[in-house]
Amino acid sequence: MSTNNLALIAKAMVASGKGILAADETTGTIGKRFDSIQVENTEENRRAYRDLLFLTKGIGDHISGVILYDETLRQKSSDGTPFVKLLEKNGVLPGIKVDAGAKPLAFCSGETVTEGLDNLPKRCTEYVKLGAKFAKWRAVIDIGRDIPSSTSIAANAHALARYAAICQEAGLVPIVEPEVLMDGDHTIERCEEVTEWTLNAVYEALYLHRVVLEHSVLKPSMVISGKKCPKQAPVDEVAARTVRVLKRTVPAAVAGIAFLSGGQSDEVATAHLNSMNAQFKGELPWPLSFSYGRALQQASLKAWKGVAVNVPAAQAALAHRARMNGMATQGRYSADLERKGQG
Ligand code: 13P
Repeated sequence: MSTNNLALIAKAMVASGKGILAADETTGTIGKRFDSIQVENTEENRRAYRDLLFLTKGIGDHISGVILYDETLRQKSSDGTPFVKLLEKNGVLPGIKVDAGAKPLAFCSGETVTEGLDNLPKRCTEYVKLGAKFAKWRAVIDIGRDIPSSTSIAANAHALARYAAICQEAGLVPIVEPEVLMDGDHTIERCEEVTEWTLNAVYEALYLHRVVLEHSVLKPSMVISGKKCPKQAPVDEVAARTVRVLKRTVPAAVAGIAFLSGGQSDEVATAHLNSMNAQFKGELPWPLSFSYGRALQQASLKAWKGVAVNVPAAQAALAHRARMNGMATQGRYSADLERKGQG
């Protein structure tokens, strides 16, 4: 039996002024990020990069938790301190990605279902022993001609619900992540429709599987125009449509909502979050926060380039983005703050 207090952990993950750093890239995905800065994808380089991120001074000021990958959860800082201990010492909760990735869904050409339920109870028990406090599972919903299908929405909602129930039974707070992809040329109206459909299916499945909503965090995508849509919706419209869908579909009992960035540029992702919290201050039943991967790490990775002497600049870049997003959770971010921080 675990002793993790799931209600307290879930609340701490979305505490005001803070959000989550997604540093759970699989070995393949981190390889793509390293390719962009010409760094070789070796275990030591992966360790050194995560070490740099986690050793950022004041990381706990605006980062409540870090999502780790299996390999990273078992790695150590350069002085021999396990990453889990290092994060805890800095007031940051360690979390773990437990899904095994999105795989082709039978009879649904071009669509996927996320796998990883086999042996999940056993893996969760081990992760709790290793110090993990929360978990993540990402479902992927693509928008295109004739997709998504109701098959893919139902299959992904079912897997998310099974995952969330297994996590809670083992003593981990589940981050429930149904990502509606922003690839493609669809309009923001279409994204809103698909996001509403997806979230309705997810919460129906969570209910059916007895998931305790107070012990869970939702990680949705924002309602946004497709990347290749000729008409890109402005920041305040993205914020308003996103909040409208969330209010229609997410029960007030959910501990909090932490968005993914999904390929938005870092400053745009911050501006969207800020606009939601500024426009709807006092009207929301849950805290709106961030759980960004690329939008927190982009600038840091670019500054680092795999060179030790660049570590302080890379850490300053992460600290800055974390602070800007921390302000955005309170609707206090501005272009002026952005410029000053870069100064
Ligand atoms: P992005 O913010 O880069 O979309 O990553 C978040 C994440 O954890 C995806 O699963």
